[in-house]
Parts: sequence; structure tokens; C-alpha cells
Amino acid sequence: METATSDAIVFFGATGDLAYEQIFPALLGLVGEEGLNVPIVGVAKAGWNLDQLKARARDSIAKHAKPDPGALSRLLTLLRYVDGDYNDPQTFENLRGTLGSAHRPLHYLAIPPSLFGVVVSALAKSGLNTDGRVVVEKPFGRDRESARALNQTLLEYFPEPTIFRIDHYLGKEPVQNILYTRFANSTSEPLWNRQHVHSIQITMAEAFDVRDRGSFYDATGALRDVVQNHMLQALANLMMEPPTGEENEAERDQKAALLKAVRPLDAASIVRGQYRGYRSAKGVRPDSTTETFVAVKLFVDSWRWAGVPVYIRAGKSLALTAAEATIRFAPPPRSTFGEKIDGPVNYIRMRLSPDINVAMGMRMKHPGERMEGVNVELMLTAHPPALTPPYQRLLGDAIHGVRELFGREDIVDAQWRIVEPILAHPPPCQDYEPGSWGPSAADTLIGTDGPWLTPKPPSQTT
Ligand code: BG6
Repeated sequence: METATSDAIVFFGATGDLAYEQIFPALLGLVGEEGLNVPIVGVAKAGWNLDQLKARARDSIAKHAKPDPGALSRLLTLLRYVDGDYNDPQTFENLRGTLGSAHRPLHYLAIPPSLFGVVVSALAKSGLNTDGRVVVEKPFGRDRESARALNQTLLEYFPEPTIFRIDHYLGKEPVQNILYTRFANSTSEPLWNRQHVHSIQITMAEAFDVRDRGSFYDATGALRDVVQNHMLQALANLMMEPPTGEENEAERDQKAALLKAVRPLDAASIVRGQYRGYRSAKGVRPDSTTETFVAVKLFVDSWRWAGVPVYIRAGKSLALTAAEATIRFAPPPRSTFGEKIDGPVNYIRMRLSPDINVAMGMRMKHPGERMEGVNVELMLTAHPPALTPPYQRLLGDAIHGVRELFGREDIVDAQWRIVEPILAHPPPCQDYEPGSWGPSAADTLIGTDGPWLTPKPPSQTT
């Protein structure tokens, strides 16, 4: 079963936002580009019928996907709908009936984690877990303890190889490209260590505010929303050891080993910020102390990385929307030409969004008599963002039982372990102006390892 293709897709929460924004567009892509041709059953408690679900699918696709009328009409014919309460066994009997002869369903839980237990136990009671798979969304728990409890609940009914924990960052082409660039080139390995790397920075900046997600965001904050998952996954790809052997868990084994070596955060290694005006957003508590910006300094306690600082910052309402990672190499051991040089000279910059590029920083001589130069950046590759959307990539992998791009129990646990001390005792938040780069304390955090490297607007990078 482990690698057999799922013969039906069931998605719980079919009338919700995630289905609307991500799942219908991903299904359209799978039907149109990859020939997906299995029953797709939406389940929700909304008092809807199939026609209403189809109308919702049409709307979602008009808004969030590239038009493909042929694929859309095929997708609509594959759609089924079961309406009912998740606490009512009849809902699952109806689901069984709707699935007909399909016996290897993939269940996508696009529902709040508080309902996971109810749904998976009801699936098991109806025998729908046998040979089934389950896909769950982030946030995977609120802390280490709740994540462990969630894992326990899932593992009661689904063995680990059939659980697919989504972190959509892992489905992004440029995040994959970090691994590719590192391990497809012999030139990176000799430099990728404490002897040559001065520091690492990852920035995930978003120019927009919490929009209509105030109540979700206020209960979550930047550390849980994007650092515990997306940023730590990018960090693992940047810093893990090369996968070895033919085992299909080789990649996740190395990722787990790296994340287990990251030193947990303490109050001195984090800056929390909140943009001015956040507390008047809809759904946000007027006295909220939730962070909308976070900057952290991390260390990986391994032979390869001992002493190399890693800085991550992420936030909403910042100066622009872009994410990138930069490996900054140590300067030459002495200045041969007596120049005063500002900023990093030798680095590899990997742009993760919205566009994709990999660039290398070097210093080159100005033509002329004097031994003086200029910092230049060599663009190694540059792409616009038009690639398979992460949800399509991940859902496709889950249907085929391909697990590399999903969270594993020990990986998720290691990620919570890193942020846990701060969740329990968060230092106070500092205000920042919308449109800025966050509170000035972030500059103090990076200190002489800085400055923070500011991503360029997309118009200047491709
Ligand atoms: C989500 C977070 O997981 O990732 C959002 O909940 C964030 O707050 C989003 O905006 C960013 O992902 P992407 O792919 O749009 O950069």
C-alpha cells in the first residue's frame, strides 16, 4: 500500500477557506496536467448539496487558478459531496457509500486540529483508514506537547508512513532548489562549513498586514505561523548533511538530524515586534501582545556548524514582499589592497519568493591602475514564479505515497523543541512602523554580524 496510488480523494472542510484558496486550484492542476481521474469527495457540515459545492469550485478556480475549461469540466464530473456532522456516524456511512468501490482513499483534513481526533476515529470505525492516507495542515499543534498529542491521535488510526503533514514551503520549487544547488555541485561542499561560512541569513518579508485572518493570526503570531515551520524547513535544506544511500527516508533523516542539533531559543536570541495599527485589525484583541515580526539568532551545535550564527527574520507589514536566504562567506584573512569594504563580498543568495533566483557575490577590480574594486553579483539562475503551485505538487506526491516533502513526527517535534522556550516565556513586543523593516532591536540582535541583507523588489531581480 505504501506506494500504491490513492484511488479517491476525500477532503474534509470542503466549504472552508483552505479548500477555496488552495485545494480546488491544486485539484484542477492535477486533473488538467497530471490526468487525475479518481472520485473527489468534499465533506462538510454546511447544509449544502453537490451543485453548491460545484459552484464553489468554479468560483475558487476563477479567482485562484489559471483558466483551463477542459480540466474544470472534468474536475466537476469527479466531484461528490457528503454533508453532515463529523460527530455523527451516519456522515461516515454516507461517505463510505459515496466512495463506492474505492478502497485506498486519501483523506485531506482541511479542518481545525481540534477536529482531527473526531474525524480520524470515525474514519477508523467505518473502516476508511484501512489502506488509506491522511493529509494534515499546519499549524501542527500549538507547542511541543499539543503536537505530540496530535501525533498520538493520528498514529492510533494511521501508521506514520500514511500520514502526510503539509508545510507548503516544502512544495516550493526554490526551496527544493536549495538542496539541488548544494548537492548537484562539488563546489559548494568544501565551502559549506564553519571554516568558510561567516553567517547565514533568512528573511521572509511580507508587505501586507494580517488582512482578514486577524483571529487566526492573533492566536498564532509570527513565530508559530512561519518560523517554527517554513523558516526552519528552509534552514534545514541549507544546512543539513548530504543524504546518503538509497533509502527513501534518507533526506528526512538528515533533516531531522540537523533540526535536532539546533540550539533552542532563549530570550536573548529573539526580538518580537508588532506593527502599529495591528491591534485595531478585525479579530485581534485590543490589548494583544502577539508578534507580527520576529527576528532570531540560532546556532547549530554540530562539528560542521559550531559557532556560525544563523539569523532569521519574518514579519507582516514590512517594506516589501520577498523571501531569501543568504550564505555569507568569511572575508579574506587579510586585506591585501588596503580597501575599506562595506557589506558582504562573498555570498550565495537564494531567492525563495516571489521570483526565483540564485546569485553569487564577488569583488572585481575596476579597470585602471589602482588596485580597487567593486562588489558585483553574478546571477546564476533567474525565473519568474510561474511554476507548479506548492499545493498541487504536495497533493500529487501524497496521492502517490511520496513522503520526502512532508513533515515527519520527529522533524515536527524537533521544530517545536527549538521555539518552545520562547512560547512559554515570550519577551515583550516592540512596536514598528508599517512599511519598515521591523523594530530597531533587530539590528542590535544582528550587531556586527550584520547588516541584515535587504531583498530587492522583484522588478530588480530578474
Ligand atoms: C502561511 C502563513 O503558512 O504562509 C501566512 O500562514 C503566510 O501567514 C504564508 O503569508 C506565506 O506563504 P507564501 O507561499 O504565500 O509565501
